Amino acid sequence: MELDRDEERILAGERGETRQKMLELLVALGKVFGAERLVPIKSAQVSGASYKTIGEYGLQWLSSLDAKAVVPAVLNPIGMPRGRWQEMGVDPDFAQKQQAVVAAYERLGIGIECTCTPYYLRETDFGDHLAWSESSAVSYANSVIGARTNREGGPGALAAALVGKTPCYGLHLEQNRKPQLVIDVKADTKNWSIADYGALGYHAGKLAGNRIPYITGIRPDKDQLKGLGAAMAATGAVALYHVAGITPEAVKRPFDLTGLDTIAVESAEIRKLFKEIPVDAVAVGCPHCSPAELEEIARLLIGKVVSMPFYIFASQGVIDNNLRTVDAIEKSGARVFADTCMVVSPVMEQYEAIMVNSGKALAYVPDMCAAVARIGTIEECVRVGTE
Ligand code: F3S
Repeated sequence: MELDRDEERILAGERGETRQKMLELLVALGKVFGAERLVPIKSAQVSGASYKTIGEYGLQWLSSLDAKAVVPAVLNPIGMPRGRWQEMGVDPDFAQKQQAVVAAYERLGIGIECTCTPYYLRETDFGDHLAWSESSAVSYANSVIGARTNREGGPGALAAALVGKTPCYGLHLEQNRKPQLVIDVKADTKNWSIADYGALGYHAGKLAGNRIPYITGIRPDKDQLKGLGAAMAATGAVALYHVAGITPEAVKRPFDLTGLDTIAVESAEIRKLFKEIPVDAVAVGCPHCSPAELEEIARLLIGKVVSMPFYIFASQGVIDNNLRTVDAIEKSGARVFADTCMVVSPVMEQYEAIMVNSGKALAYVPDMCAAVARIGTIEECVRVGTE
C-alpha cells in the first residue's frame, strides 16, 4: 500500500503507540483486501459497544488504548438506555460494566450517542467516504445517501476514527458499486408499510446473499428504504442496494443490467412472513425510529393504554428534538428508550415472543433474545399491544 508522509510518521510511532497500532491494523486490512491507499473519512460509526457482545476482554482492550478520534464518530447501540437503565429493568452489575464500556469509548473521543441511525444526527452527503460498522447504517449510508463505506468491524471503525482514514477498497470504489442481480417485485406495493418493506428485505436478503441487488417494482420512502435495507443486511450480507428510479446512484447512473440474473418476488412470499402468534411484548424502532415514525406511533397510541411491555427505540438526539411526541407516546405506558434496542439489550431475553415491525428484528430476535419474533405493521403492533 502506498502511504503518504503523515501516515509513515504515524506508523513510525510519532503520534503515539495507540495511533501506530491502529494504523498497522488499517494497513493490514488494506493489504488483505487489496487497497492501494487509505482514504480520508468524514465520520465513523463504531460497533462493539454492548457489554453483552464485547464482554470483559473487549472492555480491557478498549481501556488499554490512548488516543482521541480525529473525525466525528458515534457509538452503536449499547445494552441499556444510559439515563433510564433502572426503569428498563437492567441488572445493576450489567449496567456497571456497560457504563465502563461507554466511559472507555468516551475517553477515546467517540460520541456516546449510541445509535444505528447516525444519519439523523449529522449531515452525511452523497460521495462521502465513511467508516461505519452497523449493518443497517452501512446499508442506509451506501444505498439511500450514496455515501461510501464498507461494513467495518468494530476495531476497524475505531481505528479509522482515531486515524481519520480507512483503506480504500470495496464499496469505496465506484467500479464495485454496480448491481449484481435484479430483484423484480411483482406485488401491488401502493399501500405498503415499513413492515412490508422489512418483510421484503428479509426475503430479498436471502436471495441476494452478498450481491448488490437492483430492485424494480417498488416505490419506498426513506423510512421504508431504511427497513428494507436493514433486513437485507440481516438475512443476507447486503451492504449496498439500488432501487430503480429511487436511490441516488440508480437515478444518477444508467446501470447496465445486461446479463444479470433476475429473480421475481411474488406478494405471497412476503405475506407468509406475517403470522398471527401470541406475544408477550412489543418492540419497535429497528433501526432506531425517525421523527416521522415517532409521530405515527404517537398518533396511533393517543387515548390508549398498553396491555403489555411496549418498547420504542430511537436515538437520544431524535428523542430530545421530539419531546412532546415522546411524552404523548409515554402517556399510554409505552416507553421510548435511547441508546439500546430489542436485539442488544439483555432485558429482552425475559420474553417468549416479541412483536416487531422490522424485518431485521424478525431475523435477529430469535437468535439474540431466544424469543419467537412476529412481524406486523405499526398499526398491528399498537392493536396487539393495547388489546
Ligand atoms: Fe439498530 Fe438494534 Fe436494529 S442496532 S438496526 S435497532 S438490531
